[in-house]
Amino acid sequence: MKILLTGGAGYIGSHTAIELMSSGYEVVIVDNLRNSKASTVDRVAEISGQSPTFYQKDVADYVAMDTVFKQEQPDAVIHFAGLKAVNESVADPLLYYQLNLLTSMSLCRTMADNNVTNLVFSSSATVYGKPERLPLDENCDATKATNPYGRTKIIIEQMLRDLCDAKPKFNVVLLRYFNPAGAHPSARLGEDPNGIPNNLVPFLTQVAVGMRDELVINGDDYPTKDGTCVRDYIHVQDLAKGHVAAIRKLQSNCRLVAYNLGTGTGHSVKEVVAAFELATNQHLPRSIGPRRVGDVPTSYTDPSLAKRELGWKAGLTIDDICRDAWRWQNENPDGYP
Ligand code: NAD
Ligand code: UFG
Repeated sequence: MKILLTGGAGYIGSHTAIELMSSGYEVVIVDNLRNSKASTVDRVAEISGQSPTFYQKDVADYVAMDTVFKQEQPDAVIHFAGLKAVNESVADPLLYYQLNLLTSMSLCRTMADNNVTNLVFSSSATVYGKPERLPLDENCDATKATNPYGRTKIIIEQMLRDLCDAKPKFNVVLLRYFNPAGAHPSARLGEDPNGIPNNLVPFLTQVAVGMRDELVINGDDYPTKDGTCVRDYIHVQDLAKGHVAAIRKLQSNCRLVAYNLGTGTGHSVKEVVAAFELATNQHLPRSIGPRRVGDVPTSYTDPSLAKRELGWKAGLTIDDICRDAWRWQNENPDGYP
């Protein structure tokens, strides 16, 4: 089976490409390298011993994508391509609505016109906004995002629901990721953010390697075990395996289904710092700053639906995440060449 990965040169897509190829799938990557580098694709080939076919194209370019689809005739698509920075989406909402929505709409049009009707979509736990209950399960209201980035995910999910209603041949799996982190254990693939990282784990790795002076913890007066926010950190390797399980699910004519991908365990910011200190064997300078606007105190999933219906369960821990993130950062202090 041949799987086309939009955004497959990115952080989650590159790890998924390796997992798919090691499970016997052929992989085609389409990425415009807006937020990634071509050397990532070389490293995917180096690790897996197989070269994915790579097209440097914009997924929103219908003509270019139509040519790729006619050439490759994929059996299914995993749609990772998109912008993902919450604060950037607040500052420039039109950019997010334009790129994330137009890219997804154009991709669906290309798929329908080429009779490719199996899709896995990268959604996010951000669609749940402030949790109505914990743990978050798939029946929680998934239309409550509090920022433009999250609202693009809600709109795309709704568009895919409408598409499945109108065209019964379509099968869609929506994967709502919790907090992806960590890196490939080879230290050849990892997260390579542009500029100052927004997310906790890449910020910590940059402090540990000496690129940043200290971690500022965004508030320690939340109603949580130690006052800092609690999140469900999922190793990117586990996440990649979740995509392989979702591809298998598509083959059962599932119509449209949504799954939360997380571990089911929440860790506070202070706990992540402690795990990171253990992994790096060094003290990490930090201070307490004000709360970050928009942060919810606690978010973690009930992972049981994915276990029951996908046969998938996260197997790696926060210690594995910190060890692999650190190894990646330490061996690639400047990210990808
Ligand atoms: P990433 O930025 O590393 O990967 C996205 C890739 O898409 C990049 O390689 C980028 O160059 C490419 N891309 C963007 N627009 C494109 C376009 N129009 N045409 C072709 N390629 C394009 O991000 P990631 O962390 O790997 O995230 C992948 C997906 O998962 C995104 O949709 C993101 O919203 C979603 N997600 C990520 C997280 C997270 O914390 N990383 C959490 C929840 C959901
Ligand atoms: N944090 C700090 N200092 C930092 C960075 C982060 O204290 O320098 C704190 C945050 O305030 C938060 C926690 O660490 O309390 C986790 O923050 P992240 O930014 O790593 O993760 P979020 O849960 O805020 O958001 C992430 C992705 C979103 C996605 C969401 C749910 O960035 O895109 O998970 O999947 F929508």
